[in-house]
Amino acid sequence: MEKGYTYDFYVKAASYIRERIREVPSVAVVLGTGCAPFAKKITDAVTINYADIPGFPVTTNPDHAGQLVAGYVGSKYIICMNGRFHFYEGYSMEELNIPVHVLHVLGVKTLVLTNAAGSCNPDFHVGDAMLIRDHIKLYGGSPMRGPNVSELGPRFFGVTDLYTEKLREIAKECAKRSRMKVHEGVYMFFPGPQFETASEIRAARILGADAVGMSTVTEALTAAHCGMRLLGLALLTNMATGMTEENVDGSEVNLNAAAVAPAFSALLEDIVSSI
Ligand code: HPA
Repeated sequence: MEKGYTYDFYVKAASYIRERIREVPSVAVVLGTGCAPFAKKITDAVTINYADIPGFPVTTNPDHAGQLVAGYVGSKYIICMNGRFHFYEGYSMEELNIPVHVLHVLGVKTLVLTNAAGSCNPDFHVGDAMLIRDHIKLYGGSPMRGPNVSELGPRFFGVTDLYTEKLREIAKECAKRSRMKVHEGVYMFFPGPQFETASEIRAARILGADAVGMSTVTEALTAAHCGMRLLGLALLTNMATGMTEENVDGSEVNLNAAAVAPAFSALLEDIVSSI
């Protein structure tokens, strides 16, 4: 893609959203595979199709709804991305900064990223959740490659406390009240859409990964660029390739995600209310 978006590009998209929702949301939640039930918990909901937002990408994944949903969780006004954009769909890394930068311009200060991931830690089991402590992204460029839009953030930015420690501490308290087992670990990005080879998973383990997936990292880096507080929560839908004898396939991921979606959505609701 030709980068070179101006600040005005992001302002146009954010203004379109702001005109249709009640308040500036304090938290944005990106819903990954199996998290859709969470969107149903939102009251006084307003939905906006991505296709109607000026400049916003459009999801190509049939399992992702492609809508923003704004409304209340308890007394907190939030906005959800019900459906996200992945590198494997054909977007450039650079295009993948758009949604989070738009949410930042809208005034959102805290971002919660959820995803489905494969476990490469033998102690982390299918149906467990994992708070992301840090990530590894060795593949591909940065979502901030190209001309820097200085109104959004600095050219060079640190990622020391990328996944905000304070938010993880709060999430750990919520985990104690949850039906789910919640771990903490390192998420490693793979571009997909193929699942990983057994050798790639062996390499990921040696490098320090606990879970692998095809999303989240571009959004996390964009959040760091524009100074948002960030929490990442992975739902472990399968053991990664080679961790068991079984082949990893997409229908297994979706089935396992659906099975724990109610518990995961309840945990997410508690976290969103508490942060
Ligand atoms: N690998 C990559 N992405 C995934 C996986 C996996 O095993 N499971 C769910 N998303």
